[in-house]
Order: sequence, then structure tokens, then C-alpha cells
Amino acid sequence: MANNTVESIKSRKNGSPIVMITAYDYLFAKIFDGKVDIILVGDSLNHSFNGKDDTLSITIEEMIYHTKAVCRGAKDSLIVFDMPFGYYSTKDEALKSAIKVFKESGASAIKIEGGKEKAEIIKSLIEEKISVMGHIGLMPQALRRDGGYKIKGKNQNEEDMLIEDAKALEDAGVFCIVCEGVKRDVATKITQSVNIPVIGIGSGNGVDGQVLVWSDAFGFFRDFKPKFVRRYLDGAQQVEEALERYIDDVKSGDFPNISESY
Ligand code: KIV
Repeated sequence: MANNTVESIKSRKNGSPIVMITAYDYLFAKIFDGKVDIILVGDSLNHSFNGKDDTLSITIEEMIYHTKAVCRGAKDSLIVFDMPFGYYSTKDEALKSAIKVFKESGASAIKIEGGKEKAEIIKSLIEEKISVMGHIGLMPQALRRDGGYKIKGKNQNEEDMLIEDAKALEDAGVFCIVCEGVKRDVATKITQSVNIPVIGIGSGNGVDGQVLVWSDAFGFFRDFKPKFVRRYLDGAQQVEEALERYIDDVKSGDFPNISESY
């Protein structure tokens, strides 16, 4: 059993900041395991790992494939499965999808995008012993409805709606909420309005924790860099430099040398 559980994360409200990062495979999950509190197998993998335009087309089977790989690499961090678009429109569909995820992968919880409009569905999942992480604010699965990735909390109406969403999710029983792309002061108010942790992405530092997409944070995804991303590594550049050394060594005959031969 992982050291980080749904309950241990929930108890971190107003405690030490929660650190969450995405992972999509065994190798990186193994590096991140135990160092971060939560590993999210995010549907962001559809574009930041698989090169698609957005998150919408990924299937539950593809998500499960990646989650199984992550679970093989990570034993201590809490692993959360991001429910893809189109698999939780009704209570029955959501339950069927969540049971499939739990039976086929080792994830400990699922994440669902949506506020009060999803509260009843989320409540019914929690009644079936499926832990749920909420996700409000900028919701990538609502890209086409919203006409793009739009920052939220820009006026009083949006602020009121976001706070209502957070409270509805708390009442439904989620153990924490991701708050994405929300104005910093509004995200702080949302955080203060609920008794469960709020984990921010592009929402400032008045929240209970942060999440980043690993390929953004480590400089492997270079198609664009959102304002909120801090790059901790020039991963792609470092790989390119290492690749050049390998190519040079092969071409010059330096690789393999005697100690690298049988
Ligand atoms: O899919 C994802 O990686 C996410 C995070 C950005 C929160 O939902």
C-alpha cells in the first residue's frame, strides 16, 4: 500500500504543500515515486506525450495502458487516473468506467472535470467506494465549449460560480480539488472556502499544493510554454546533446570500445 493515501492527502489541508506531477510511463513514475505526494496519469498525455491537438480523443483503454505502466513504477505516491472525455456523462456510465479502471489498473483514485453539474455523478461514485479528485476552473475537456483555453475567475459571476463548484464538490465527497487556470486571488478565495485541499495549476500560490505536467516542467514538450510553467530542466536539449555525442562516437568508431565489447 502506498504511503500516500486519499486520507493522508485530505488531511494536508492547511498543512505542508502537496506536490503533484503527471507521469505516463514506468520510467518516469519510478523516478518520481515517493518524492511527490501524487502522480496523476493525466489525459494531457494525449497532446504533451502523444502529439495530438488536445485531450479529447484519448480512450479509456489508452489511459489504462499508461496507468498500468505508472503503477508498475510507483509504489509510494498516490496514483490518480484522469477520467477521459466521454466516459462519465451519466451515473451508470461513470460507474462502469470507474470500475473498469479499478479492476484493470492499480490507480487509487480517479479525477473528474466539472463542478456542480457533476456533483451527483461524483457522489454516486464515492458511495461505491471510488475516491474522486475534482477539477474546476479551466477544464481542457471543455475546450470546444469555451472556444479555447480560457483563464477563469475574471469577473464576480465567474468567481461566485467557482466557489459554488468547489463547495458542491466538497459536499459530494471529493478528497481534493484541482483548480486550473484561475486568477490568483480567486483561487485563494476558493481554497479558503472549502475544508479539503485545493491543488493549483496556473492558479497562483494561495492554494494547498501544485501540479505540473512533467514534460512541461522538464522541458521535453517545446511546442509552446504556458506563462505558469516553470522549466526545471532543458530535457529535450540535453537529450539532443547526448544524442549528438552518441552519433559522433558511432561515426568515429569510438563506440563501442574494448571494455564495452565481449
Ligand atoms: O491532464 C492533466 O495532466 C491534468 C493536470 C493538468 C491537472 O488534468
